Amino acid sequence: MKKLLISAFSIACALSSLSSCGKTENAESSNTAKLVCSATTENQVFSIDTLVADSIILPAPQTTGGMPIYDALSARATFRNFKPDALSDQTISNLLWTASGVNRPVADDPRLTAPTARNAQEIDIYVCTKTAVYLYLPVGHKLKLVNKGDFRAQAGNNPFHANASVDLIMVANYDKMQGWDEHSIAFYGATDTGYISQNIYLFCAAENLKTCVCGNINREEIAKFINLKNGYVTLTQPIGK
Ligand SMILES: Cc1cc2nc3c(=O)[nH]c(=O)nc-3n(C[C@H](O)[C@H](O)[C@H](O)COP(=O)(O)O)c2cc1C
Repeated sequence: MKKLLISAFSIACALSSLSSCGKTENAESSNTAKLVCSATTENQVFSIDTLVADSIILPAPQTTGGMPIYDALSARATFRNFKPDALSDQTISNLLWTASGVNRPVADDPRLTAPTARNAQEIDIYVCTKTAVYLYLPVGHKLKLVNKGDFRAQAGNNPFHANASVDLIMVANYDKMQGWDEHSIAFYGATDTGYISQNIYLFCAAENLKTCVCGNINREEIAKFINLKNGYVTLTQPIGK
């Protein structure tokens, strides 16, 4: 059964439904409660798409099966016409795992679905939903709140960004590139973003979803709403139906 763990809720609408849907577990501190809710489609009490929470533990991703790789490569394409439909929690989980999740969960050396130069794992992925912006944390397969509100329209200069179910923002995190020369920072930041972007393209092809990687973006504006301190916004990628 798909489970969604939510900590430190910040919206009243979620709180009002919690007493009926979940049980409180292991309060970490006086203002942080962990709750477990069913996130099935039959009995959905909330979804990532509409929730604003400090921290969300995503449902476990699907890591086997799916469309054969040759079929996905044959279907891979850019699409720019999105319907305003939400993605399910499970689809968001699968999307992020495919993009750059942990596929070899060795405790002190977790490795990702996308390769990175020097295994720096320096590309951060931010997720813009209808209600919030989150940083994806591959270890633990979690989302961490970075801003409240709908910033999808600002994820790119093309109008279709606003219609996507989610917009992903890829950032070269300079904290993880310390000691690298300027050329390596620019070159590997771009290269490593490309692997993630192609993973997303293949996921969308396999799941009959639409996507368009975008460089026509306002990097300064994006850096502000994701509260970026030390990094470079490389590309953004809307995903939808
Ligand atoms: C680095 C990069 C940046 C791109 N930026 C944009 C963009 O800002 N807006 C857009 O509509 N498409 C953008 N694209 C999508 C390309 O236009 C698209 O991949 C190309 O037309 C080939 O189409 P295909 O992906 O269906 O093969 C970008 C693609 C890449 C690889």
